[in-house]
Amino acid sequence: MKKSGHFTAGLTMLIGLFVAQPGLSQDKTVNDGVFTEAQVSSGQAVYDSQCKTCHNMRFYRDTLRSWSNQPLLYLWENIMGTMPADNPGSLMFEEYTDVIAYILSENGFPAGDATLDPDNGMDAIKILAP
Ligand code: HEC
Repeated sequence: MKKSGHFTAGLTMLIGLFVAQPGLSQDKTVNDGVFTEAQVSSGQAVYDSQCKTCHNMRFYRDTLRSWSNQPLLYLWENIMGTMPADNPGSLMFEEYTDVIAYILSENGFPAGDATLDPDNGMDAIKILAP
């Protein structure tokens, strides 16, 4: 009697599925021209009417310092959720974004070709101390 041999199917094991993670190497800082001049000027109008009554620019400078190395998006979210203190969340997304552009510009960071956009890469822009 003949013993039938085992048919052994080859086992294919997929080990190590490497997913490319390009994010980290592309990190930017607020020094890289991450907002436009146009955002700065519309931000100034928002700032003058909505933000100036309770804080002066020195306050924002200290804020940037204490937020240094954090993603700019976090500051945007924080401001949007809490400011203006007498009416949080009352501004439009663009107004919060523009006011941040203005504050950065006033603290010596350069405008550039890129438009600051909370939906596009702001989590990969690091705040630096002015
Ligand atoms: C009615 C007063 C008032 C207005 C108007 C106001 N703030 Fe504030 N803001 C406060 C108070 C109060 C705090 C919390 C106490 C503090 O840190 O001085 C604060 C804190 C902050 C902080 C610090 C956040 C942190 O966690 O480090 C930022 C940044 C800020 N405000 C930005 C803004 C911006 C931008 C505007 C305009 C859109 C604005 N504020 C308008 C009263 C105000």
